[in-house]
Amino acid sequence: MKLTDRIRYVGVDDLSTVLFERQWPLPYGVSYNSYLVVDEKIALIDTAAAGFREGFLANIKQEIGDRKIDYLIVNHMEPDHSALQAAVRLEYPDCTIVTNQKAVPMIEGFNGLTENVMTIREGESLSLGASTLQFFMVPMVHWPETMVTWCPEEKTLFSGDAFGTFKALKGNVTDSKSNTFEDFKDEMTRYYASIVGKYANPVQSALKKLGGLEINRICSTHGPVWENQVADVIQYYDKLSRYEASHGVCLAYGSMYGNTEKAALALAEAISKCGIPCAVHDLTEENYSFALRDVFKFDTIVLGSPTYNNGIFPPVRQLMEGICDRQVKDRRFFAFGSCTWAPASVKLLNEMASAAGFEILGEGATFKQGYEPSKFDAAALAALV
Ligand code: FEO
Repeated sequence: MKLTDRIRYVGVDDLSTVLFERQWPLPYGVSYNSYLVVDEKIALIDTAAAGFREGFLANIKQEIGDRKIDYLIVNHMEPDHSALQAAVRLEYPDCTIVTNQKAVPMIEGFNGLTENVMTIREGESLSLGASTLQFFMVPMVHWPETMVTWCPEEKTLFSGDAFGTFKALKGNVTDSKSNTFEDFKDEMTRYYASIVGKYANPVQSALKKLGGLEINRICSTHGPVWENQVADVIQYYDKLSRYEASHGVCLAYGSMYGNTEKAALALAEAISKCGIPCAVHDLTEENYSFALRDVFKFDTIVLGSPTYNNGIFPPVRQLMEGICDRQVKDRRFFAFGSCTWAPASVKLLNEMASAAGFEILGEGATFKQGYEPSKFDAAALAALV
């Protein structure tokens, strides 16, 4: 698909993979975006995931016919974008792989390619004729070898995973009135929270480094090409990587026999009655990435866990560890949960929250055995948040 005379989209939609990285659900699919810059020389920027070889190479042929690819630019080596490098080299044996030094051993390690690899350094440029590609390192967004490619003549940033989002494109390659940032915001947040969230400082460094560019178009490796809402998308990424959140509650719980669940629902109702947005997640029913998304969205985390093996119920512990792994900052925290004979989960969750630097809202609430409203004053607890 033609984005401009020079820039073409040759990516593919993945509507069949159930779990991205074998861990993150894809209810709306995902796209693996790849781009051509067509000039006197032709550059292909990143490839796609394994399993898409035929469609991907056909997309390239459709754009350039019998012309050859001169350069394969490698911005990022995660296999969802690098798995077809060998297929490209087989189809276009003379193409030069252009990347940075950190990616070179990964290209050999993943794909066995060692020949005709050109390394570039921070800020260096490659002429394609009338257009130029310039390279900037953005290490740890979210792998060490990550870089972005800038085409000044087109004011286009090929950003790798940065500004990416889950959700397949289904033919709507660019943002538009019927394909807006708002339509993708939840899945962008979940992508960021799941995959990039731990690397807030590198994202902030990258945003500062690229801040001087006059960007008219962002070509990420996942999700729409941003043309109409570039400023909104950059601003939102800045907000996410500062851990800025709006006032509201992510209430996530796990429950074995329904008692912590009854308490969770009573608390959610009481919080909602206070007029505070409250997103509720049953962690035994859904992947924790959905709750993690709302941890990045809202300023208050409320977790419900029964005591299990004298500890935190495992699905809740997984979320809490995910939050701590991502070094989430500036959140308020409240824990509750049932136990049968000796409470432990609330105390342990509070210890983890305290170590994360969260503001602890009261000591939490534990009740023994069956749920009764008299054992769990949801209205009083809601007043805390
Ligand atoms: Fe979409 Fe980090 O790969």
